[in-house]
Amino acid sequence: MSKLLNIRVAQKTFGATVVLEDVELALAEQEIVALLGPSGCGKSTLLRIAAGLDLDYAGNVEYATELTARRNSGVAYVFQEPRLMPWLTVAQNIGFADGKQADQKWISQLLEEVGLGGWESALPKQLSGGMAQRVAIARGLYSRPRVLLLDEPFSAVDAFTRMKLQDLLLSLAREHGISLLLVTHDIDESLYLADRVLVMGSRPGNVRKSIHVPLPQPRNRADEWLVSLKAEALAELHESHAI
Ligand SMILES: Nc1ncnc2c1ncn2[C@@H]1O[C@H](COP(=O)(O)OP(=O)(O)OP(=O)(O)O)[C@@H](O)[C@H]1O
Ligand SMILES: [Mg+2]
Repeated sequence: MSKLLNIRVAQKTFGATVVLEDVELALAEQEIVALLGPSGCGKSTLLRIAAGLDLDYAGNVEYATELTARRNSGVAYVFQEPRLMPWLTVAQNIGFADGKQADQKWISQLLEEVGLGGWESALPKQLSGGMAQRVAIARGLYSRPRVLLLDEPFSAVDAFTRMKLQDLLLSLAREHGISLLLVTHDIDESLYLADRVLVMGSRPGNVRKSIHVPLPQPRNRADEWLVSLKAEALAELHESHAI
């Protein structure tokens, strides 16, 4: 598998505080990587660096030519909250980057894919939290990215909706052939979705452990292997909190 994204952060500081140090992360084609770690360890900061939203750090991010040839470097970002503009319709939110030239056919197809076919003209206030996050994912896919970066995308929805959204994300990643780099606080979610789970520590933030999840998709949430990997991830998180 060739690498789409190579991230090297020698150091990232905010004022006098070193937030990330010696972090290396590569994302291969169609790979799903989860970032797990205590609050404040720099997960969102790392994701923003990967997206090119934060350029103020020592290190570099290399994008494969396959990415740079695309719009927005072939990378799209889904935030923790849906961040929809309340005065725009669902379709206008999804195609916002293209304004009036937005591709309506593609928007309708994406809405079908996220299970919201026919909701083009609805306003964000008519949507539940889970529906709004589906729209946010559709907006992320609108530019046809090769890499989707997601920062705790399902943390605001109930457990059942969350499981449905996880399955939706997996099927979208497969259908569109995209790689995912996902920040989550949820160990089960990371092990259910990812090929690799990177457990981060803090002060300064770095990758303490990389857990390979060798199970094919779709996975059984009660799989014994996942249960044992969970124990491994938990032990590492305890260590990182103990520092
Ligand atoms: N714009 C900023 N200015 C100053 N400090 C910041 C800024 N953004 C983040 N920080 C600090 O950098 C550290 C890492 O923040 P970051 O948001 O990346 O953590 P996180 O791992 O995503 O946490 P959480 O799990 O709570 O979302 C924190 O100590 C935070 O206070
Ligand atoms: Mg964060």
